[in-house]
Amino acid sequence: MIAMTRTPIVGGNWKMHTDAVTARSLAGDVARGRAEAAGPPVDVVLFPPAPWLLPAAEAVDGSPVEIGAQDVSEHREGAHTGEVSATMIRSAGAAWAIVGHSERRHGLGESPERVGQKLAEALGHGLHLVLCVGELESERTEGRTEAVVAAQLDAALDAADAGSDATPENLVIAYEPVWAIGTGKTAGPEEAQEVHAFIRSRLAERYSAGFAERIRLQYGGSVKPGNAADLGAAPDVDGFLVGGASLKADDFLAIVAAAHG
Ligand code: PGA
Repeated sequence: MIAMTRTPIVGGNWKMHTDAVTARSLAGDVARGRAEAAGPPVDVVLFPPAPWLLPAAEAVDGSPVEIGAQDVSEHREGAHTGEVSATMIRSAGAAWAIVGHSERRHGLGESPERVGQKLAEALGHGLHLVLCVGELESERTEGRTEAVVAAQLDAALDAADAGSDATPENLVIAYEPVWAIGTGKTAGPEEAQEVHAFIRSRLAERYSAGFAERIRLQYGGSVKPGNAADLGAAPDVDGFLVGGASLKADDFLAIVAAAHG
């Protein structure tokens, strides 16, 4: 595949952490840090809990940092208690959402089809999406990593293609091996590269070589300031989805600064 420059993209997934005060200050600290940062460009998106979307969007206003939701409903509107729609997310000043995070797939039993419906609905309403895929430790041990990742990709993208078009601009794929999330175990740069190259070749077959060259592929799972540069140097790793280390502005900014490798 022809090498080309993709602007890395780093997401901070705060999960169910922060309160109204700490969310605002963390978003403000990241925004200030990025506004002052030198070096090659990196896109940055913060994913606070849903109640803090609006205050976080206000805190980053005027900076290059964007805001996203950690999940999005597959429904447009109506009697869906507790759900948050794509239009609500946009109305709160957020441009992005995560779909298919492993804590929802495995922790909350979200099916690949439902992930696909969410992707289609959100893309259709102008949100940009981070689609998470990744294998369990047992699936890796059984040599099924590529099959699992391919099935998750296909289920989600089939639904999206039926509704609205995914593009390299409105879609990011995050490869997050489940065994590396919140465990301190990280895929090595070679392990991450292998799966990222597989995902890119799968997208080339599905769409086109040009699509595959332009789409950004994030790595996620225990990314820290100390391992980010090695992972970021892998040719098909175009940034990170960061959980625990995104809750400290300094650590998160150091990871962003290391995204080019
Ligand atoms: P972690 O989480 O960085 O805490 O491992 C990553 C994620 O869940 O996106």
